[in-house]
Amino acid sequence: MTLTVEALSVTLGRTPVLQAVTGLRAAPGEVTALIGPNGAGKSTLLKAIAGLVRYHGEIHLETQDLAGLAHAERARRVYYLPQESTTRAALSVFEAVLLARRTTHPARGREDLERVERLLHTLALTPLAERDLGQLSGGQRQRVAIAQAIVREPQVLMLDEPTSALDLHHQLQVLAWLQATAREQSIGVIIAIHDLSLAARFADHLWMLGAGGRVCATGTPREVLSAARLREVYAIHAHVEWPANEPPRVTPLAALNPLGGVEL
Ligand SMILES: Nc1ncnc2c1ncn2[C@@H]1O[C@H](COP(=O)(O)OP(=O)(O)O)[C@@H](O)[C@H]1O
Ligand SMILES: [Mg+2]
Repeated sequence: MTLTVEALSVTLGRTPVLQAVTGLRAAPGEVTALIGPNGAGKSTLLKAIAGLVRYHGEIHLETQDLAGLAHAERARRVYYLPQESTTRAALSVFEAVLLARRTTHPARGREDLERVERLLHTLALTPLAERDLGQLSGGQRQRVAIAQAIVREPQVLMLDEPTSALDLHHQLQVLAWLQATAREQSIGVIIAIHDLSLAARFADHLWMLGAGGRVCATGTPREVLSAARLREVYAIHAHVEWPANEPPRVTPLAALNPLGGVEL
């Protein structure tokens, strides 16, 4: 199911955070990376799609206007995993993932248990299955939260900086797995992410937001990422390379001051 966003505006308190954000599209089976500087409005955009903040504008899943859905139905179809998840419930990893499944799907006994087992295995979480959530490291908790999100099988899965607490091994593992999951289950995966090399490598499509909550560019990584655009949107001097037999590389070299010089 293709998600589309047209003429979306969000005001928080008295601050207009997103202003007429338009022309965004996230296709099933694809990974869309949402990029942009701190405070651009990435989290707010994802929350608006999830229906967690008030907005003006049109957010559709195919022909269905999401504003027309009851809250529970919207949450079943479009799931948002926040930047910081604060689950401290006295549950084991296995129980937490099983419980997440039960929030969106009727109980199926053995089938559910096997599904959770497979998922934990895929995310290399099996050794932690019996561990309480409170006894996990930040990165382990982040991987469990991702397992909880995916087990719900939403049509659109939004993850807010899902790799921020992960070591390099687990960043690659989680992003490769999200990409495979998007393809296999034909869901739209949208990830807010700061690492532009990873965004270029794993995303099919980019949404780039700039200061003041405006859309600066959308398209394939090659269409969106260029040294000139990174200078304009992030105020950095960067190399953007597309080597033939290796993943793309975005190397930030220097922060620029407002006059375009290098900051000391
Ligand atoms: N509750 C709020 N009231 C007023 N302004 C807010 C509120 N929450 C966030 N903002 C502002 O909205 C802007 C966008 O925030 P956010 O969506 O979290 O950005 P990002 O995720 O891109 O870093 C920021 O300028 C932030 O200060
Ligand atoms: Mg954010």
